[in-house]
Amino acid sequence: MGILYVNGRFVDEKEAAISPLDRGFLFADAIYEVVRYDRGRPFRLAEHLERMREGLAAISIAATPDFFPAVAERLLSDNGLADEDAVVYAQVSRGAAPRAHAFPPAGTAPTTFAFARRTDPPLPPEGGRAMLVTDERWARCDIKSVMLLPNVLAAQRAREAGAVDAILVKDGFALEGTKANLFSVAKGVLRTAPNGPRILPGVTRAAAIEAARRIGLPVEERAFTVEEMYASQELFLASTTLWTYPLVSVEGRTIGSGKPGPVARMIREALHEEFRGAAAASRGPA
Ligand code: PDD
Repeated sequence: MGILYVNGRFVDEKEAAISPLDRGFLFADAIYEVVRYDRGRPFRLAEHLERMREGLAAISIAATPDFFPAVAERLLSDNGLADEDAVVYAQVSRGAAPRAHAFPPAGTAPTTFAFARRTDPPLPPEGGRAMLVTDERWARCDIKSVMLLPNVLAAQRAREAGAVDAILVKDGFALEGTKANLFSVAKGVLRTAPNGPRILPGVTRAAAIEAARRIGLPVEERAFTVEEMYASQELFLASTTLWTYPLVSVEGRTIGSGKPGPVARMIREALHEEFRGAAAASRGPA
């Protein structure tokens, strides 16, 4: 893994240490963030930092995300990723203290941990198969908490079924994937669940909605049922690591033509352009 960041220090993974009494370990009492970098330039960093700030405030961890930009830059360069397509992961927990559920004594320092790695290779271009899994998450999915056990179990079920992801279903609504937001295109309208406690307010989700509006596509932020999902012309995931990724069948039922559709592709290209464009602009002329 190389060089990691732990509580103000850049250390080799073999020397990195966090107390076993850390509340992130004991209670998943922590939030995290994942930001994508193209050759050192971040995609929508301000939005990620804002979500981190809101997450910390929502669970009353007295920390700010201000460390992130400089730490990310150093992690990218120390790990030879300054010229790569990479992601930086950061996590802030409520710190280490003798195990007791309620908050630890005032003054307990939060634990800050970060690492960088190359972005996963893209998934097969022909699109993926998905399955449905009952959404067993808590009632505050808008907080990017590290408490991801339901997501982990659903992702594993998808892997065992040979699917690229599981779509989490609550009260009949197909809400999102295990690590990505979910979009449907039906009758020329792009649809995705509204921000709120049932989904993570994805940075890519917001960028995709903006891109769709720019290309004149009507957008409806409204949750869709599983039945509505099956009637989609297109269905796709959206996240920091995927941009957009078409789902061509769910539970063995073909979606639309069974091939990746034009809306997912157009939005993907728009996001790519924004990412590369911002990177190029901030690097200045070659
Ligand atoms: N996952 N929904 C869930 C449940 C997620 O975990 C994620 C991100 C998203 C997409 O958010 P964004 O566009 O801001 O990446 C939606 C990250 C990448 C992860 O857990 O690795």
